Amino acid sequence: MYLISSQEMLKKAQREQYAVPAFNIHNLETIQVVVDTAKELGSPVILAATPATYNYAGTPYLISICKKAAEIHHFPFALHLDHHENLSDIESKIEAGIRSIMIDASHYPFEENIDIVREMVVFSHKYNASVEAELGRLGGQEDDLIVDDKQSAFTDPDAAKEYVERTGIDSLAVAIGSAHGLYKGEPKLDFQRLAKIRDKVDIPLVLHGASGIPEEMVKKSISLGICKVNVATELKIAFSDALKQNFKEHPDANDPRHYMQPAKAAMKKIVEEKIRICGSAGKL
Ligand code: 13P
Repeated sequence: MYLISSQEMLKKAQREQYAVPAFNIHNLETIQVVVDTAKELGSPVILAATPATYNYAGTPYLISICKKAAEIHHFPFALHLDHHENLSDIESKIEAGIRSIMIDASHYPFEENIDIVREMVVFSHKYNASVEAELGRLGGQEDDLIVDDKQSAFTDPDAAKEYVERTGIDSLAVAIGSAHGLYKGEPKLDFQRLAKIRDKVDIPLVLHGASGIPEEMVKKSISLGICKVNVATELKIAFSDALKQNFKEHPDANDPRHYMQPAKAAMKKIVEEKIRICGSAGKL
């Protein structure tokens, strides 16, 4: 069984004070970059995909490619459901072999959020699948998920304690000022709030929207209890900028086996850098 749950790797990260990077992947090339680089550096890793990515690539393709990658490298990792909302969709993906999920009910009022997440936890744990959920609401855009500033809300530490106890989740995504996508100015993270949440809640905490957050802030978050760091936008930008540059320099290029190489190399650099920042190299 190579597609594993995130539970053990996040618990180990919590004990040893580093974070497991979760990289959003979209296709064969991006999966190869993440898996090959994580294996090279001996880093635990989570491959995350939003509902739009599963729709684009096809769930059976994604699962098969990831399983094969894990098998080839003798390298168990988690293929994760990032920001999934639909219960029957999540159930069918768990039945298809995925063991790491995020159920995002953060747009519902507190009690409803708890009920939805609790139901998903009961189902997922029967399969030993780990469950992440979000309390408060991150702003910004991640694929089809768009949350404007007025809809975003920070995580309340007392509510977080109650939420974790009543849902039985395995990890908690916190809203402390990070946002999906690029930041307009310097991001501001509420470290005091994070420390209070850590005081009240003893499960791994998750930082979404890590693209564009300076290294020192990510490291400080990890020292205050963040055990999973989610990165998507920076990978997409590195990949597509290198692709654009390559076509600019070689306008007649038409062989994906050639023009994908610089894109993969550019993305690999970001993956290496984030693994270093997370402190996860050699932690397999
Ligand atoms: P970024 O796109 O801002 O890196 O956020 C990724 C993320 O949080 C995925 O859930």
